[in-house]
Amino acid sequence: MLREVVATRYVTPLREGGSLPGIVEGDDLGTYVMKFTGAGQGRKTLVAEIICGELGRSLGLRVPELVTMELDPVIGLSEPDQEVQELLKASGGLNLGMDYLPGSIGFDPLAYEVGPAEAGRIVWFDALINNVDRSWRNPNMLVWHGDLFLIDHGATMIWHHNWPTAQASAAKPYNASDHALAPFSPDVRAAAEALAPLVTEELLAEVTAAVPDEWLVDEPGFATTDELRRAYAEPLLARAATVHERIVMDAPTARRPSQAPGWLAARLRPARRQGGQEDAR
Ligand SMILES: Nc1ncnc2c1ncn2[C@@H]1O[C@H](COP(=O)(O)OP(=O)(O)OP(=O)(O)O)[C@@H](O)[C@H]1O
Ligand SMILES: [Mg+2]
Repeated sequence: MLREVVATRYVTPLREGGSLPGIVEGDDLGTYVMKFTGAGQGRKTLVAEIICGELGRSLGLRVPELVTMELDPVIGLSEPDQEVQELLKASGGLNLGMDYLPGSIGFDPLAYEVGPAEAGRIVWFDALINNVDRSWRNPNMLVWHGDLFLIDHGATMIWHHNWPTAQASAAKPYNASDHALAPFSPDVRAAAEALAPLVTEELLAEVTAAVPDEWLVDEPGFATTDELRRAYAEPLLARAATVHERIVMDAPTARRPSQAPGWLAARLRPARRQGGQEDAR
């Protein structure tokens, strides 16, 4: 189960995010990136964030803590931006919060070195959940205290937008050619060997149970929310065993120029540890 936090102050919108996430303080004195149920992307994005975020964390990948956040839109009354006001008004009740990583910066493939083992685990995980939103254009990874963190799992499990075709859709290959970590020789075979056995029915029951019922009710074709939870678990369980055989990786796309200024790029590059240890994490 996710921890429940009550939002106490709306701090500022995060303009980089397409769904207009906001930085919000909670009654536990934490600071969170809040994703709103009233955003145009809809509640399925939040369902995907929880299932995939919790799954990734269970597989040993770094994902900032997720919490459910209760919002009283009254906290946004002094917010001058009309768009933000409307978003808050439309999002009273339960929303999603992700622990805010202060001082983190967006992953830049030219400024941060990732070893083949870690790259392999992340590419394999993205193939499993069919993440189409971790390309070099929009890596959705943050570097914090020298480590890579995964964020934004809203654009995953595309099959949940059309359940009748879910099985066929989940059987399709995963094209990782544009993946932000494709240039780092990801060892997806080793990742599959290590991680696929961990993706069990029990684990999937646990991560799907973390989704609040109110984001699952009234899905056409499903009598109960637990039936829908099982529908989320099934394709993931089926994909875990063989998805590494269906990862397509064409010749890596030319790396784009680094966006980080030189002084920052130098600070970001983790010191190489001895004997290739940097990839043993
Ligand atoms: N936990 C976090 N800590 C610090 N910054 C964050 C965190 N989560 C998100 N951000 C910042 O906010 C931006 C938007 O977040 P995110 O990608 O999750 O939103 P989104 O609306 O789904 O975005 P998009 O669909 O445009 O990629 C990120 O690119 C990052 O700069
Ligand atoms: Mg994003």
